[in-house]
This record gives sequence, C-alpha cells and structure tokens, in this order.
Amino acid sequence: MRIGMLTSGGDCQALNAAMRGVVKGLSNNIEDLEVYGFFNGYKGLIYGNYRLLTSEDFSGILTKGGTILGSSREPFKNMRDPGENGIDKVEAMKTNYYKLNLDCLVILGGNGTQKTANLLREEGLNVIHLPKTIDNDIFGTDMTFGFYSAVNIACEAIDCIHTTAASHNRVFIVEVMGHKVGWLTLYAGVASGADIILLPEIPYDDDSIIDAIEKRRKAGKGFTILAVAEGAISKADAKLSKKELKKKREQENYPSVSYRIADMITERTGSEARVTVPGHTQRGGSPCPYDRVLCSRLGSAAAKAIMDGKFGNMVGIVNGETRLIPLEKVAGNLKMVKPGCKMIKEAKRMGISFGD
Ligand code: F6P
Repeated sequence: MRIGMLTSGGDCQALNAAMRGVVKGLSNNIEDLEVYGFFNGYKGLIYGNYRLLTSEDFSGILTKGGTILGSSREPFKNMRDPGENGIDKVEAMKTNYYKLNLDCLVILGGNGTQKTANLLREEGLNVIHLPKTIDNDIFGTDMTFGFYSAVNIACEAIDCIHTTAASHNRVFIVEVMGHKVGWLTLYAGVASGADIILLPEIPYDDDSIIDAIEKRRKAGKGFTILAVAEGAISKADAKLSKKELKKKREQENYPSVSYRIADMITERTGSEARVTVPGHTQRGGSPCPYDRVLCSRLGSAAAKAIMDGKFGNMVGIVNGETRLIPLEKVAGNLKMVKPGCKMIKEAKRMGISFGD
C-alpha cells in the first residue's frame, strides 16, 4: 500500500502525533507500506515536492509541536485559479497523485483544507481528512486536535495576567485566537476565571462591558479581566455590511478589536486598561495529553478506514467515539458557539458577562 500525507493551513501542536497515529496504525497491520510526505501543505502536492518517509521520521514525534512536513496556506478559493505560473493546481495535484500510484491521500487540516480535500474527492482521488485546528470550528466533529493544547496556553496567559491585574487594580484584556469563532476564548476564559468573555457569536455592547466593570468595582474588586476573541464584534458593527465595517476599522486604525475596547474602557471609567495578545504562542509547543490521546485515536481510526477502503471521509470524534463523517456533508460548514447553549447559560449563572 502506498499513501501520501500532507499538513495544510495554520499549524497546531498535535499534527505530528496524528501522523504518527496513522502510520503506526497502518505499519503494524500492513507489511508493504510506503508513505510519501508532501512538503508545505498542498504546495508539495501541486509542485511535486515530496519524499518517501521511513519509520525513523515518525519516531519520537508524539510530543513534538509543529509539523515534520511543514505547512502553508493555499486558499481553496484560488485552487482553480492558475495564478502567475499558469499551473492548473487541481490537475497538478491529480497528476502527482497518479504518478506516485497512491492508494490514498491523508490530509490534515482545518476548514479550508477540508474544502480542498472534498474537491479532490470529487475529482476521484481517495482521501481521508483529519480535523486539525486550535479554533475547534470544524463541523461534524465534537473536537479538533490542537484545541485543548491552545486552551492550555491561552489559559496560562490569563492566569499570569490575573496576579498582576490584582496588584495594580487595572483592567486587563487578553486577546485570544479563534478566527471567526469563540470556542477557544470561551474555554480559556471559563478555565481561567475571566470576568467578561467576548465572542464573535455574541456581539457586545460597550454599556454592558462598563456595567460589568462597575459592578465588580462596587463589590470591592479593583481589577477586571476580559477574555476577548480576536473576532469579537460590537452590536453596532455587527449591523454593518462587510464593506462598511472594513472602512470603519480602517478609519479607527486599531491593531485589533481589543485595543478599541481598551480605549473605550479607559475613556469611560478613567481606569487604565492593558492589552495582552498571546498570538501564535497558542499554536506552539508540545501537544497536551488530551490531544496526544485524541490524535492517537483519530490516527488509528484513519488507518482502519484506509485499510477498509472507506475513503472520502473525515475521521472525527462524536460522543467520545471515533467516527467516519462523509466529507460532502461537512465541507464548507462552520461549527460556531451557540449563544443559547448550556455552557453560555452556565457561565452567565456564575456571573460571567458576555457583554450582551
Ligand atoms: O486557524 C488557526 C489560526 O491560528 C486562527 O485562530 C487565527 O485567526 C489564524 O490561524 C492566524 O493565521 P496566521 O497564522 O496565518 O496568522
């Protein structure tokens, strides 16, 4: 059996652990296995940049962050666009797949990567997708790998801010990644006792933020911690068209949403408000034990799917069990936080403000 493998999109902590899971699951059950690694995401498949990998490549990588294959963003919307060098990317990927006589292509990546994986499936290639992203926004799986490792890092950042915020009676904002969804901010915020959590799915109101800060002050708490998703949006801004919002943000000229909120808080309360952005640290370092287990399970389940010839699927986890989910059913969908879900209600009951 001959398989190809690639990691695409923003990296995360557990990509290597997932690839190791697939290869161990196959090599323990198949004698004549060959694994070709394509470098730097779909680029490697398009431009024929690959190498035959050996068992050495997969040894000692369970705890290693990043990806041994490298990654890049190759947007789905440009896949059919020939670009500067005039290459038909989809045809080039098919050519390399058939040239190597692959039985299957294992693709590790997030939403955009999944859309291209589905496109390759439609084009007749045997593909298996593994759901990677710190954002946990892939539809059809309860969990993506990378998420809990990133929660740990964002949570540690907020924990550290907690002690200094208390000493200085300041308002602190920690801006958390997550692109257009709030899972990472919600989990890191709850885990680290943030007082106000702002998510893209629940547009905020400046007055509600100020009320929550004042309420704490009246209760004798001199400091307030906000966990703000990088995609958080105000109620007023949520009503604007994409074009209007772009123009407004250009005029405001803040590096990100947190800085606008910080200025608003200082202006209205007179308190100093500081912003911390852990940024890409959230994707770095070693995978947490949960992700190592998740990737071992997903990888092993992917190996079984390949041996059974069940291609065209994402291998996800649903209610604690690994499951094959047809790519055609999930590609292009986003899993967002539901504003009325139990977790939000539970957090609100504990006094956490969502700024709504
Ligand atoms: O999708 C993962 C993610 O880290 C998002 O949370 C974030 O918005 C984005 O990638 C950052 O992308 P880049 O690494 O290209 O700056």
